[in-house]
Amino acid sequence: MKTLKIDTPSCRSVIYCGRGAFEERAPLLKGQQLFVVTDSNVNALYSDLILNTFGQVPVYVLPAGERSKNLTKLKEILTAMLTAGVTRSCTVVAFGGGVVGDIAGLAAALYMRGVRLVQIPTTLLAQVDSSVGGKTAVDFGGVKNAVGTFYQPGEVIVDPRFLSTLPIREIKCGLGEIVKYGALNGAILDRLTACSDIFDLSFLEGITYDCIAHKARVVEADERDEGGARATLNVGHTTGHAFELYYKRLSHGQFVLIGMYYELYLAQRSGCCEGAYADVLRDLIARVLGRVPAPVDAAEAAARARYDKKNEQNTRVTMIVPVGRGQTQKLTLPVARYCALIGECAAAIKEKAK
Ligand SMILES: NC(=O)c1ccc[n+]([C@@H]2O[C@H](COP(=O)([O-])OP(=O)(O)OC[C@H]3O[C@@H](n4cnc5c(N)ncnc54)[C@H](O)[C@@H]3O)[C@@H](O)[C@H]2O)c1
Ligand SMILES: [Zn+2]
Repeated sequence: MKTLKIDTPSCRSVIYCGRGAFEERAPLLKGQQLFVVTDSNVNALYSDLILNTFGQVPVYVLPAGERSKNLTKLKEILTAMLTAGVTRSCTVVAFGGGVVGDIAGLAAALYMRGVRLVQIPTTLLAQVDSSVGGKTAVDFGGVKNAVGTFYQPGEVIVDPRFLSTLPIREIKCGLGEIVKYGALNGAILDRLTACSDIFDLSFLEGITYDCIAHKARVVEADERDEGGARATLNVGHTTGHAFELYYKRLSHGQFVLIGMYYELYLAQRSGCCEGAYADVLRDLIARVLGRVPAPVDAAEAAARARYDKKNEQNTRVTMIVPVGRGQTQKLTLPVARYCALIGECAAAIKEKAK
């Protein structure tokens, strides 16, 4: 088990990462006033572990899935905390994937103006990304993460043992974010390209630590995502989100990879990324996805990218694109040009698939 720290103006977060992290750290929470939030799938697999580790503590079980990340469920969690007689000295334990982490984190931030939060991420995506960095939120009014706050967990326990029960779709989802880190960090890229089986759980265990270490430094530099280092974590996300809103079939991380594939094309056509480097990333994307599905209606999906949070006006699309080993840059294109290039890339994918 390795340890990482994130020091920000608001908090110190300690991250315990690696095999054995759960056995070593979680029992230390026993005896404290705990309130556990989990979801129905995780509870079905790990309710005995929760009981044996924490004892008879209140456990709120969210129905699994993104649709539970809403204000109604947030209110239910807060009500359950009140009903259980939880006080300001309680610790909320978010035991699950990113959905659990985001909503339990927000509940912890709000309850009695803030109680201690411990994240125990059980999906690969939550381990490499969402449990670290303090972003909490629920979806509202049809807008993802529309209501939320920054609230750092006091402790994050990242144990690869939970990955053994994850469906392959969720492993691919986490790999989407891991390949994104590869575009941001040359050492992570080298490990990915040198690995013959990036789905291997012991490989994922090692690279998880590297990704968290990268994110920890980014969060320290720009905790509140104020236009600095944290924006780089959005590589692949502008186009990925646009497709995600439109198609929905795949997981978030898979859309990030599809988004990155398209944005590499845009970066190349805009003269800011060398073909040889783009090929290295494209090869990794293909290793996770198999092949990149060409959107049925590229222009329609692409038009949605103009509403991305990063755009100051909806006549242009702004993205963070990979430009070289460990390097990214902001690329802004007029909507019409963006749509045309997305269409070109989709046509090229279709042609290649023939
Ligand atoms: N806060 C942040 O910085 C941040 C960053 C990225 C994503 N997110 C959010 O994270 C959410 C996505 O997270 P996710 O991909 O973990 O989704 P998720 O929480 O819905 O989990 C995916 C699925 O895996 C199941 N699951 C969880 N752990 C399991 C295990 N060990 N074994 C078997 N099944 C398990 C869940 O029940 C669910 O069905 C989104 O809401 C997204 O907005 C937040
Ligand atoms: Zn993401």
